[in-house]
Amino acid sequence: LRIAVLNGPNLNMLGIREPGVYGNESLSAIETQVKSRGDELGVQISFFQTNHEGDMIDRIHSAYCNEDGIIINPGAWTHYSYAIRDALSAVSIPIVEVHLSNIHKREAFRHVSVVAPVALGQIAGFGASGYLMALDGLVRKLQSESS
Ligand code: DQA
Repeated sequence: LRIAVLNGPNLNMLGIREPGVYGNESLSAIETQVKSRGDELGVQISFFQTNHEGDMIDRIHSAYCNEDGIIINPGAWTHYSYAIRDALSAVSIPIVEVHLSNIHKREAFRHVSVVAPVALGQIAGFGASGYLMALDGLVRKLQSESS
């Protein structure tokens, strides 16, 4: 299986950015953990982070026919980007939405996810472990479909 782990705007600042909300770990430290869990599960993972919406849309499109699933933390795009949502919907592979923080207990504008309706599911509030939970859940889902 091939899985893309995608991170949107400001997530390159993890570790520096509001550590009380998002934790002390850098994105590359999180990616290292996800990579090693991927190795254990025998899945190939490709990582990508961008602060540019069009670049994320291009990366999502490139998953079409090349990857079996997407794990994405769309950052603030979650709450308003119909273009990111439509790109995820277009590739028609399973999507798992991840947020480090529990968006549902934060400011009202974070309670809405325009991505959630096109996702298999959403994991929010578990910090960096959310990416590992997403990977486990997505791999199980993909394996159950192929058997
Ligand atoms: C986030 C939550 C979003 O509301 C915020 O804009 C982010 C990070 C999270 O991981 O908790 O950039 O997606």
